[in-house]
Amino acid sequence: MQMPDSVARIYDAVYGQGQLFAVDRPLASDPMHSQGARANSIAIAGGAFGDEGKGRIVDELCTEFARSASRMIIYRWNGGANAGHTVIVEGQRIALHQLPSGSLHENATVVLGKGMVVHPGDLLAEMAHIRPLIAQRGRFDLHVDAQAVLSLDTHRAFEAALRDWASGGQGSTGRGIAPAYADVLFRHPVRVGDLLADDWESRLGAHYDLYSALMRGLDADFSAAEVPSLDSGPIAVGTYTDFLRRISEQTAELREYIDADTFRLVRDAWADESIPFVFEGAQAIGLDPRWGVYPDVTASDPTFDGIAHSTEGVVQPWRIAARAGAIKATYSSSVGTRRLPTHIDDELAHRIREDAHEYGATTKRPRDIAHIDLPCLGFFADVSRMQYLVLTHLDIAYPDTPIRVCTHYTDANGDLATYRPDQAYLDTVTPHYVELPSWNGAAVQGARRIEDLPREALQYVAFLTQALGVTPLMGTTGPQREAVIRWA
Ligand code: IMP
Repeated sequence: MQMPDSVARIYDAVYGQGQLFAVDRPLASDPMHSQGARANSIAIAGGAFGDEGKGRIVDELCTEFARSASRMIIYRWNGGANAGHTVIVEGQRIALHQLPSGSLHENATVVLGKGMVVHPGDLLAEMAHIRPLIAQRGRFDLHVDAQAVLSLDTHRAFEAALRDWASGGQGSTGRGIAPAYADVLFRHPVRVGDLLADDWESRLGAHYDLYSALMRGLDADFSAAEVPSLDSGPIAVGTYTDFLRRISEQTAELREYIDADTFRLVRDAWADESIPFVFEGAQAIGLDPRWGVYPDVTASDPTFDGIAHSTEGVVQPWRIAARAGAIKATYSSSVGTRRLPTHIDDELAHRIREDAHEYGATTKRPRDIAHIDLPCLGFFADVSRMQYLVLTHLDIAYPDTPIRVCTHYTDANGDLATYRPDQAYLDTVTPHYVELPSWNGAAVQGARRIEDLPREALQYVAFLTQALGVTPLMGTTGPQREAVIRWA
């Protein structure tokens, strides 16, 4: 079976006729001012399975916005303490989890949106880490949406008990994310705003009682339960009284950041197009419970649609000037039990893993490595209506090893098959590849200009972006903060 016509045409244009589709120069028009869109707004989501390294890109965008605007909004719309991104500030590596990567910028108004699940203890620990860096700034302009759902130690203990009992909590980050989101569907969430209610004790107490009952149903209880915490390692959930005392201490510290009027803040700022908006997603489209492969999916909405829900409809994704997905340029990586059709476990996979440090940030578990899979990544781009592509790790390329890209799948009958988010189905498809000329990754390390990319890299970017139906926006060429290439 030949590759599909649509891909074959692009392949021929790039590798036969040498057409670069203008990726060898900056974009002709400014993506931040596209027609019909709200100017100065951008959303960045993970375009594959997470850990694509988009934090650096957000940092770059914020640095630029900081030059032109006296205030910008950094908005996170999904997930919670399951995320992890490292930013480098004044030479220091800072790990952030619930706070978005743009948080440390001087004129940032940071919003943790309604679509998130918030763990107060871990959030305070994170804030304590960054406090010395932002001390000179006066107040940290953080707004935790009072409507965001709380994700508490009770959820973490329950998720662990569920994992021991059945497969329910398996493969999670152990941060109680899924139970907190499930509370909403079961109609018994506790929200950040509940912390400030006059009857907070009865609300949080009822939550503790409910989760005690759920634990008992799983032959577990809180007396022995220890859960991860960001600062102090495993901690005990404790008794009803311990739990409420800890919540009350945390509320005292968090109170000034809890905002019942985030809706108005976002609505008013959105109406003023001079204020830049950076929507920073957590996790990735391939971890979406609808579009990813069960069970390695998270519970939140990591697609751009999640922004509409989180902002209560104020920000419709199609109004955002640029919706960008980030992927690793020459390969994909993933954690979990999913079996990607293009999974590899050969010498190249080992080489990539070492060169790109593809080990879990907290667990140090080696990540699975896979060839770029157009049916899969194209599906993620389509369902999320992605417009732009951010290509990280452009320096992971070897002159002696062509880049293998899966152009299509076939089924058992040899017929063309599409990607579907179903592991049993994916196990039956056969991936087909093209081998594309590679380049010397070491030589592009740290490159900052499009013209510093060799022709093979430009051809590759042209092929990939055309095949995925997106436009290149930015790329990264190494771990250094300034190793960023911009098409716009
Ligand atoms: P949860 O988000 O803790 O419920 O975990 C569900 C799945 O999402 C697991 O397979 C996790 O490994 C994965 N996951 C959650 N957050 C991230 C992330 O930031 N990067 C990569 N995988 C993640």
